[in-house]
Parts: sequence; structure tokens; C-alpha cells
Amino acid sequence: MTTHLIQPTSEASTRRHDGLSIALHWSVALAVVLTYGFGLLREGLSRGPSRDFVLLLHMSFGILVMAGAVFRIAWHAGRSSLGARQPVSATWAAKLAHLALYAGLIAVPLAGLVMVWTKGQAVPFFGLVDMPQLLPTNRIASKVLEEVHELMAHGLVAFVGLHAAAALYHHYVLKDGVLAAMLPRVR
Ligand code: HEM
Ligand code: HEM
Repeated sequence: MTTHLIQPTSEASTRRHDGLSIALHWSVALAVVLTYGFGLLREGLSRGPSRDFVLLLHMSFGILVMAGAVFRIAWHAGRSSLGARQPVSATWAAKLAHLALYAGLIAVPLAGLVMVWTKGQAVPFFGLVDMPQLLPTNRIASKVLEEVHELMAHGLVAFVGLHAAAALYHHYVLKDGVLAAMLPRVR
């Protein structure tokens, strides 16, 4: 039987995601906005140190996005296997949408990472450490991945827009507590 918890019951409106899940959700969301913003900003800059610095920020926040998504999946899987209470909404549509979001949160940065490696470069993480080039240089792969990365990035951001609209629909129309469950508790 499907767990379906989005009815506006008093239980649904009081159940919340755990603190770490909420913190991860909003940190990853912020990192996506920054990464996307730096990607677009870089595109408009002419060659020089500022452009390089913006790309460094773009790549570093992008890696944080991927790490945050992987960590969130592991955390979620760990809690499920321990039989912890599940989030407020667990419809198949929501599960599918979240799966697609996670896939994008990993695939977009991964394509960026592999693009840079196949260009023959290491990836500097906030200028603190270099992630070494782990794949052989391949100009053709790098060119293809540049296009794939960009296309997938725009797709991910469009999907995030739909996701946010769905969350607002739950909040203002269905009034089922789905959004409140993802907001930090205000004391
Ligand atoms: C959620 C994560 C990411 C998003 C949403 C994203 C998005 C974008 C966008 C929108 C652009 C500009 C496309 C354009 O208008 O030309 C771009 C370019 C770029 N991204 Fe990402 N990116 C992400 C992660 C990464 C990561 C992790 C790396 C590498 C470690 C990376 C490397 C690059 C590079 C090198 C470019 C410039 C490509 C060129 O030479 O035109 N990105 N990215
Ligand atoms: C870049 C921005 C965003 C990304 C990448 C993102 C990603 C995700 C992902 C992967 C989930 C699955 C579950 C989880 O992580 O706990 C989720 C859940 C959720 N998100 Fe977002 N999100 C973003 C922005 C937003 C915004 C702006 C809102 C509100 C307007 C929002 C509201 C929610 C809610 C309410 C849930 C829980 C849904 C449920 O319980 O079924 N998200 N988000």
C-alpha cells in the first residue's frame, strides 16, 4: 500500500522533516542558486582574473551541490532503514519529482566535473585544494559535455521552478502542511 500522507490531517500538519534534512534542503537550494548565478555571470564577463575567479566559485559551489545531494540521499536511506518516520508527503508523484531533482543535482555537477577533467585541468575547490584530474584529456568529450552540462543546468533550474511552484500550491491551495514541514521551526 502507498504511504499517502498529504491529507490535511492534524498529524500531517504537525509532522516535520528532521533538522538536518531541512538544513541540507535549504543549503543545497542556496548553493544551486549561487552556482547557476555564477555560471551565467561568468558567461557575460570578458577574459581575465575576475572571470577566472567567478568560474572558481561556480565550480566550488557546484561541487558542494553534488556533495550535499549525495549526503542527503545517504541520510534519507539511513533513516528509512532505521524505520524513522517519513516526511509529510510521500505520494508517488512527489517521490518521482524528488528522484528527478536528485538525479539533476548529481548529473549536472558531474557533467561539469568530467568536462573540466577531460579538458585536461584539475578542479580547484575554493582555491584551497585541487581535485586532481581523474580522467584522460579528451577534447571531443569535453566539448560535448560543455553543451550537455549547460542544457542539463537550464533543465534543472526550470524543474526547480516547477518544484517551488508545487510547494507553494500545497501551501496556499491544499493547505496541507507540506511546505511548513520543510521550514525551520521559528521559536
Ligand atoms: C548544480 C551545479 C551546476 C550548475 C547549475 C551549473 C550551471 C552552469 C551554467 C548555467 C553555465 C553557463 C552556461 C552558459 O550560459 O554558457 C555553466 C558553465 C560552466 N560550468 Fe557549471 N554548473 C554546475 C556545476 C559545475 C561544476 C561542479 C563544474 C566543475 C567542477 C562546472 C563547470 C563549468 C564550466 C567549466 C563552465 C564553463 C563552460 C564554458 O567554457 O563555456 N559546473 N555551468
Ligand atoms: C534550488 C532549489 C531547490 C532544490 C534543489 C530543491 C530540492 C528538493 C529535493 C531534492 C527535495 C526532496 C526531499 C528532500 O530533500 O528532503 C525537496 C523537497 C521539498 N522542497 Fe525543495 N528544492 C528547492 C527549492 C525549494 C523551494 C524554493 C521551495 C518552497 C517554495 C521548496 C520546497 C520543498 C518542500 C516543501 C519539500 C518537501 C516536499 C515533500 O515533503 O514532499 N524547495 N526539495
